Amino acid sequence: MTSKVSTGFTPPPYPYDRLDSVAVLAEAHPGGMVDLSVGTPVDPPIREVVEALSASNMERGYPTSLGSSMLRNSMRDWIGRRFDVEIPPTSIASCIGTKEFVASTPWYLRLRNPTKDTVLYPAVSYPTYALGAELAKCRALPVPLSEDGRLRLDLIDKRDVERAVMLWSNSPSNPTGEIDDLAALYEFAHETGVPVFSDECYTEFSWSELPNSILKYGTDNVVAVHSLSKRSNLAGMRVGFYAGDSELVDYLGLVRKHAGMMVPGPMQYAASVAFNDDAHVELQRKVYLDRLSFMVDVFNGLGYRVSAPKGGFYLWFRSELEDGFDLAAELARTLGILVSPGEFYGNDSRPFVRVAMVADMSRLELVAKRAEKKVRFDV
Ligand SMILES: Cc1ncc(COP(=O)(O)O)c(C=O)c1O
Repeated sequence: MTSKVSTGFTPPPYPYDRLDSVAVLAEAHPGGMVDLSVGTPVDPPIREVVEALSASNMERGYPTSLGSSMLRNSMRDWIGRRFDVEIPPTSIASCIGTKEFVASTPWYLRLRNPTKDTVLYPAVSYPTYALGAELAKCRALPVPLSEDGRLRLDLIDKRDVERAVMLWSNSPSNPTGEIDDLAALYEFAHETGVPVFSDECYTEFSWSELPNSILKYGTDNVVAVHSLSKRSNLAGMRVGFYAGDSELVDYLGLVRKHAGMMVPGPMQYAASVAFNDDAHVELQRKVYLDRLSFMVDVFNGLGYRVSAPKGGFYLWFRSELEDGFDLAAELARTLGILVSPGEFYGNDSRPFVRVAMVADMSRLELVAKRAEKKVRFDV
């Protein structure tokens, strides 16, 4: 009998599956655990979108892989309203949420140019950038960040630039909330010929400055990546898009069409309704801002040093502990919250934790009460 043991790729444990022992500590609190680990939206999407899901008449036939013209027009219109940039719908294509796009694009780009074998991405970042590199059998090469969270493009070795299939940027950043210099990233794509993929899925939640996109600086050799998951609380619908350089979008669109990557028709229809509405995003911005400032106060009241992020809906901080798992356990024990340890986002961020503002205010008030009790107990 031949052995079933694989000698090739073994998927690493899924990060959040490693939190079970910490979750037990949080769950022990009266009132239960307040889960602030996964950045999954908890607020309701707008009624119009949910109703549109049953009104599309698009269940029967195969949907288009690039996205219906109705959908792509709504994406174009949103880009126009949000960033004041005109991108033709032919340079926009849909993806089934952006995670699959992040995970699969290095492989498709490598197939296109087999002489390149390196994916560059922020040293502290969403883990799928590194995993996508691995799936493509590329070198996953983290790029160091400055104090204020910008990619240190000047520190990338020239030989690595030559080997790069692509560079990922993420602004506002998950997990740090920092905002990158998208003009400089555009320049880099232009000067080096390395395609820059700018993951902008938190752009609506930019606090320190207006939402920005790499597309504001041009489309040559750059692709912006967007998602409805965070913008419109529609992570369950799985709709995102990529837009920019027409050659890159055409190439990826065609490969993805061959591979059968399609957003289901009813989702396409409902997604266009979501992209056409901005009022709900304004309300959601306020919800996240309120939660962020509430929880900054809770943590600072306990003696942690936490500041509000420049963008996104995560708090990112460390304590004197060297391991974020220990800090996560401490927070689970004292506050009954579950948070993500920094090592999920790269080796450079091991002491940190990320706290997602994905519980409603009544749950956060419960956390504040637990914090008050702890302060009273400590003095
Ligand atoms: C930086 C970043 N990019 C992409 C994604 C994927 O989002 P989705 O697949 O829901 O579009 C996430 C989700 O948390 C994220 O944080």
